[in-house]
Parts: sequence; structure tokens; C-alpha cells
Amino acid sequence: MQIHKLLGSTILASLAACALASPPPAPAITAAPNLAKRATSCTFSGSSGAASASKSQKSCSTIILSSVAVPSGTTLDLSDLEDDTTVIFQGKTTWGYKEWSGPLLQISGTGITIKGDTGAYLDGQGALWWDGEGSNGGKTKPKFFYAHDLISSTITDLYIQNTPVQAVSINGCDGLTITDMTINNSAGDSAGGHNTDGFDIGSSSNVVITGANVYNQDDCVAVNSGTDITFSGGVCSGGHGLSIGSVGGRSDNTVDTVTFTNSEVKASTNGIRIKASVGDTGTITGVTYSGITLETISGYGILIEQNYDGGDLKGDPTSGIPITDLTIKNIVGTGAVSSSGYNVAIVCGSGACSNWTWSSVKVTGGKTYGSCENVPSVASC
Ligand SMILES: *[C@@H]1O[C@H](CO)[C@@H](O)[C@H](O)[C@H]1NC(C)=O
Ligand SMILES: *[C@@H]1O[C@H](CO)[C@@H](O)[C@H](O)[C@H]1NC(C)=O
Repeated sequence: MQIHKLLGSTILASLAACALASPPPAPAITAAPNLAKRATSCTFSGSSGAASASKSQKSCSTIILSSVAVPSGTTLDLSDLEDDTTVIFQGKTTWGYKEWSGPLLQISGTGITIKGDTGAYLDGQGALWWDGEGSNGGKTKPKFFYAHDLISSTITDLYIQNTPVQAVSINGCDGLTITDMTINNSAGDSAGGHNTDGFDIGSSSNVVITGANVYNQDDCVAVNSGTDITFSGGVCSGGHGLSIGSVGGRSDNTVDTVTFTNSEVKASTNGIRIKASVGDTGTITGVTYSGITLETISGYGILIEQNYDGGDLKGDPTSGIPITDLTIKNIVGTGAVSSSGYNVAIVCGSGACSNWTWSSVKVTGGKTYGSCENVPSVASC
């Protein structure tokens, strides 16, 4: 009501100002939103809950999704929210089975607060799709959560389990803070979960992810592009580690100022990985890994490559995506790499890796990689 009055008096004031001028231009008055019609809180549940929530999203300031069963082949779509809407998940949210590309959940808006209540969980029922092929073949699998175009928003205490393929896609966001999210796809370890990336981040800025727990079978975090992104206090288990890239070959190929700090990577193929695609152009600058503990790494403790080509370490590196101002410090991984793995692999194109800081890096247990190239003098490979 107060806002309504304020808008009203502003309009009156500008009308009065117009009346003094001559000839008066036609005043363009935009109707003030009917705030009175925005109910404080709306609760949706059951098999019609998703469609109802989607339909009513603009008229609720708080949307409670209580034990919603989303029908197969449909998106729980909250991508047209009014500013400052709160979305709360309660109980178990499920999605029905269908081969399609998804997403199963989509939320966009400005000033959005997304929360999971105590005991709430989002269950993608991934086992219905898992066939060991992920997004490379077999069944068409829906992506799980498009956290796209979220501006000045927060996601807190969300527990997600068993996504068919990639879990959380962050794109077009500016000012998104994700706190204490769990992505638990550990059931996929023995049941064919594949390409179940935790967080895929692109074209976003000011993203902060703290206290995440990710159990999966692909990158825990993959930053493909973006600026000012921080991942801290996280635990990654079962997957491919903390990754930049692959960078290159997309519409946005700039990674600038990304920090991974105070986190643990365990039971994973890699600990730290920076992938620049061979033959492409782009920028990877200002990336910091600090305070990372590695444990039980089967492939590479630290892998930095400018010859990524759909797979790691493929052929001659190129220099089109320089890796500059990189900091790797306080990496604790004594005995962490398995004896068949490699501690550190660095393959750079000529002159394409510069201004690195490399300190207190202790990664042992595996072999020395014999094909390192153009390694900055501060680093050891
Ligand atoms: C993850 O899920 C598995 C079952 O799929 C369960 O046994 C385990 O306790 C869960 N872990 C966490 C941290 O929630
Ligand atoms: C080198 O990298 C650091 C960050 O690690 C940055 O602050 C500094 O400006 C860079 N120096 C040059 C000469 O680019």
C-alpha cells in the first residue's frame, strides 16, 4: 500500500509538472502493479502443483511447493517470477519419467529467495534413465535445474538427489549466492550415473557457492565462462573434480577471476583441472585454487591442459586460450594420487601460460607425467 501511494503521488507530481509546461507532452503512465492482488503466500502440492504454481507465479509473493509430483515430460517452471519472490520446497518433490531434454526445474528472476525446508528433497529419480552413457548416447535424459537469469538472488539448503544427467546449470546470473546445497548422485556410482555434473557455470558474474556437498560422476564444478565466481567450503566426491572448462568453442569463452578455496576433493578422477580446448580462442585469467585438500584421486591430482579435445591431453597444445595470472597454493595431497595416476600434468602451448603463482603444492602418490610442455618456471610437473 505504501508503495502504491508513493507511486500515485509521484505520478501526480509529474502530471503537475507537465501542466506547467506547454504544450504538455502526452504523459506515459505505466500502470502500477496491483500489489493488493499479490497474496502473501500460496501453497501448491500434488500432481497439479507444478502447473498451478507456474500459472500463479506472478500473484504470489511466497510460493510453497509442498510434496509436488511433477508430471513426466514437464518443467516445474518458475521462470517468470515477480521481483523479490520467495520459493520454498517442502517434503519430497519428484518428476515422472520420460525421455526428453528437460529441464525438470527452472527458476529465474530478480531478488529471488529459494529455500529448502528441513527434510525437503528434490528427487530426479535418475535411476530410471541411467544407462552408463550420460549425455553421450542411450536414453535422452532431462537436465535437472536451470538456475538461469537469477539476479541478486539466493538458494539455500536445497537437497537434490539422483539427477538423470547434469544437475545445476547456472547461466546468465549476476549476484547469485548458493549456500549449503547438496547434490547427491552417489546412487549412480553403481547404477550407471554418467555426466552428472554438479554445477555447470556459464556467462555469469558474482556467483558464490559455499558449503556445497556434491557426490556425482562428472565435474563437481565446471566453469565454462564467467567472472567473479567463488566456490568455497565445499566437498566433492566421486566425480571429476574442480574444473575450469572446457573453455573454447562456445559463444562466451572468457573465464576471469574464479576462486576455489577451502574445499575437499575425494574419491575422484581429478582434483584440480583446467581444460582449454585445442585450436580455439578465449581467455582464462585470474583463477585461484587455494586451500584444497585432495584424497583418493585416480587420474590426475592437478591437470592443466591446452590440448583438451573432447578428452584430456590429446595431441599438440595450442596457444589461443592463454592461462594467465593463475594461482595454485596450499594444495594438500600427500599420498592422495593412486599409484597408476599422475600427480601433476601441465601441457601449455608456446608462451600461453604466464604469470603463475605456485606455492605449497604437495601432491604425491602417483607417477610423474612425462609429457609436460611449456611449464612456467614457478610450477613443477
Ligand atoms: C546419498 O545418497 C545415498 C543413497 O543414494 C545415501 O546412502 C547417502 O547417505 C546420501 N548421502 C548424503 C550425504 O546425503
Ligand atoms: C600476475 O597475476 C596476479 C594475480 O595472480 C595479478 O595480480 C598481477 O596483476 C599479474 N601481473 C601481471 C604483470 O599481469
